[in-house]
Amino acid sequence: MIDDKKVLFSGMQATGNLTLGNYLGALKNWLTLSDEYECFYSVVDLHSITVRQDPAELRSRARKLLTLYIAAGLDPKKNCIYYQSHVSAHAELSWILNCFTYMGELNRMTQFKDKSAKHADNINAGLFTYPVLMAADILLYQADVVPVGKDQLQHLEITRDIAQRFNAIYGDVFTIPEPYLGKSGAKIMSLQDPTKKMSKSDENVNASIYLMDDKDTIIRKFKRAVTDSDGCVAYNDTQIGIHNLIDIYSACTGKTPEEIVKEFDGKGYGDFKLAVGESVADILMPLQERFHQLEKDKAYIDGIIKENAEKAGYFANKTLRKVQKKVGFPERIR
Ligand code: TYM
Repeated sequence: MIDDKKVLFSGMQATGNLTLGNYLGALKNWLTLSDEYECFYSVVDLHSITVRQDPAELRSRARKLLTLYIAAGLDPKKNCIYYQSHVSAHAELSWILNCFTYMGELNRMTQFKDKSAKHADNINAGLFTYPVLMAADILLYQADVVPVGKDQLQHLEITRDIAQRFNAIYGDVFTIPEPYLGKSGAKIMSLQDPTKKMSKSDENVNASIYLMDDKDTIIRKFKRAVTDSDGCVAYNDTQIGIHNLIDIYSACTGKTPEEIVKEFDGKGYGDFKLAVGESVADILMPLQERFHQLEKDKAYIDGIIKENAEKAGYFANKTLRKVQKKVGFPERIR
């Protein structure tokens, strides 16, 4: 609790171009929860280097991502928006938690399996202990809730296990966090292969809607979206392409799947796809406009970066000091 408010933590990696999946699965829920909770939203650049990055590009993407959080509507005066690398407590707690995490647990992580298959030439130890750093992120702020997409649930589960294990030895040190999944949009699928999740790293640009795509591109990508030959807008487990489009439309408009099926009763996929594309563009166009305005205001963004790193550091270090004491590190002499 901070000032009687429960705490929320979440983060995104500044690798690749952000997709509609990131927006609907995470960012959109951050906005709806931000009044209710004391929020920490991190640009998790420590996580990004588990895969080789071009340094200048990583720096530029990280700044864009931080700006995008604000452009999406998060007020940086109320929400702590900061770079993970500016708060060294993340790395320090991560080391300690590494010593409370089993190899067998990490071996079971599907993201590790996927990423090591994809980057077979660079299966580094950071890729393996990635979930421990994520646990450190969350536990440092004593987060009660962590809004994420479905693909991160396994990492939330291991975070809870590590926290419970630590608490069982040392007393109630960490708050046990709960994941938060939105009603719709928790798993947005690829537009070209609806059996796969929409991903920043997909090589096929038509598979993902990027947050910076212009309206024509968005409409074109939806027109080309892979569906089926049934020709009727229905919400079931066999028409997976249409299921995905209904989820997107539902997340963008707030309509339920039942309402959507009714709305497109007797209409073809062409009409439906156009409506989905327009609903997405209606959300992304204002966001892009705000982003381009904010990006120009260097001094304003710099101020937020500095102020929020200090704020995050204050809360993170409180937990870190407590943990260091519990495990037996010597007290600092002041
Ligand atoms: P990242 O950067 O891959 O994704 C950011 C957020 O977007 C969600 N997401 C999706 N949601 C729905 N459909 C999709 N197709 C889709 N693709 C991505 C993700 O679930 C995530 O919520 N390890 C994390 C970043 C992280 C983090 C944390 C998150 C580091 N520390 C602590 C929460 C708490 C990641 O790589 O997310």
